[in-house]
Amino acid sequence: MMRTFDTVGVVGLGTMGAGIAEVFARSGLRVIGVETDENALARGRGHLENSTGRAVARGRMTAEQQREILDRIVFTTSREDLADADLVVEAIPEIMEFKRGLFADLDRICKPSAVLATNTSSLSVTAIAATTSRPGQVIGMHFFNPAPVMRLVEVIETVVTEEGLAAEIAELARRLGKTPVVAGDRAGFVVNRLLLGYLNHACHLLQSGLAGRDDIDTAMKQGVGLPMGPFTLLDLIGLDTSYKVCEVLFGESRDRRHAPAPILRELVTAGLLGRKTGRGFYSYTGEGTAPAPEALSKPAISLVGIVGGGPAAASFVSGLDTAGFKVVIAEAPDLGPVAGADLVIALSDTPVIELAVRLPRPERLVGLHLVGESVAEVVSTVLTSDEAVTAVCDLVTVLGRTPVRCADRAELVVNALLYPYLNDAVRMLECGYASAADIDAAMRLGCGYPAGPFEMLDGIGLEKVRDGLRALYAEYRDPAFAPAPLLDQLVTAGVPSVRSVG
Ligand code: CAA
Repeated sequence: MMRTFDTVGVVGLGTMGAGIAEVFARSGLRVIGVETDENALARGRGHLENSTGRAVARGRMTAEQQREILDRIVFTTSREDLADADLVVEAIPEIMEFKRGLFADLDRICKPSAVLATNTSSLSVTAIAATTSRPGQVIGMHFFNPAPVMRLVEVIETVVTEEGLAAEIAELARRLGKTPVVAGDRAGFVVNRLLLGYLNHACHLLQSGLAGRDDIDTAMKQGVGLPMGPFTLLDLIGLDTSYKVCEVLFGESRDRRHAPAPILRELVTAGLLGRKTGRGFYSYTGEGTAPAPEALSKPAISLVGIVGGGPAAASFVSGLDTAGFKVVIAEAPDLGPVAGADLVIALSDTPVIELAVRLPRPERLVGLHLVGESVAEVVSTVLTSDEAVTAVCDLVTVLGRTPVRCADRAELVVNALLYPYLNDAVRMLECGYASAADIDAAMRLGCGYPAGPFEMLDGIGLEKVRDGLRALYAEYRDPAFAPAPLLDQLVTAGVPSVRSVG
């Protein structure tokens, strides 16, 4: 017989717990919200009032509906009030000791039929279940921040989960207007396993000086169409949570991609945890906000030299023509035609430094890689002058693109971040953890990505990604960048889509 979930307890009313309580209350369920003390309870109530108040302000909900939602929630500091709950979802900090203590309490307090769920981002649901006398009724129910907005719920079953329970929780998630993806108990599940590898990689690239914070965020938001750049998202998730998830992932995978970047540790130790503390990678207190952009001015350059051919170079040259610049082009290995230009722009796959050393004035050479319709990666070498970089940034801005400054490294910023993430998704499929359709849905609905990793792979082309990964591996020698065997084999076999096998 299917269980009915009418009364739901939510333990922990921080950002996630309050969001989860709101989701249940919006769907008409009775909610018991539990916090440790009156201060924490008031903060939790504040989160809920703000979030629903924002919906009222935007005309998405009436004040009457807001009152009904809030009235469905009982706020308490006593866990004993959960005795009648049909389901309890835990959203307390990611510390195993705290979770074990809580679940032992819940097991004692809640009625025998109650299901106990954890919203853990990465910890072992099996280990949490083992602290209770009802491990078959313990399950993962993982929401995404902001819980009222993101449509995914990961439902995590363990080897001892009662048969049929995952399907019942998945059905409940649908009742909440969410899309469930059911997966086994592995560190990071589907989304965090892929997402945190990518976010942590962005931290490593920032630390290595490849590009600045704003440049990397702009590259991924505008260049790939993600809703947020990696540092804005890390600040939203919380740097402490992100750090802990990485540690758990690394503990299981021993993959350097998951070893938390030192910059995360430093920020966390300093108490700069992201939005919730007013500062993380960015400041949210009004100080240090970006200055207003300067008015555009066309750089004073008499002659622009272009190195490279193909459609990207042709369209860029046509833009320069239209903007009134005089252009000379070197399409072949002979760089003679551009030797006398005021500024030389390389639009080719050759490392920029290899071209620079062949020019009489290498400080005038800047690399350029056009990403999508609106971003241009502006590449400087150890020999490039600041004036040349500034001139190219002004020039691409005049041509309607946002410049992203970076150093001359394999695959620059966007592809260096995107391709290993796509490779991780192929590895996840390859080891049989989840299907391509589930992985795609999880990333689209859990993170608001415009497409899942396999949809992106098809769009870019498997061979291009495989070759990019080989270039990254050759540059950084990190085994995580070696193309997944499945990707390599599909390219060799001429199969155009990973989705055809998963
Ligand atoms: N609470 C409630 N509603 C919120 C909200 C919040 N904190 N933040 C935004 N919203 C709502 C807004 O009210 C708005 O709704 P309407 O369209 O109905 O008016 C909608 O979301 C869009 O908000 P905004 O216009 O203010 O801002 P936006 O368009 O930039 O969207 C965003 C904000 C939804 C957060 C979007 O940037 C996004 O999708 N970002 C990616 C978030 C993400 O990746 N989350 C997953 C993190 S990983 C995780 O959570 C798992 C883990 O275990 C670590």
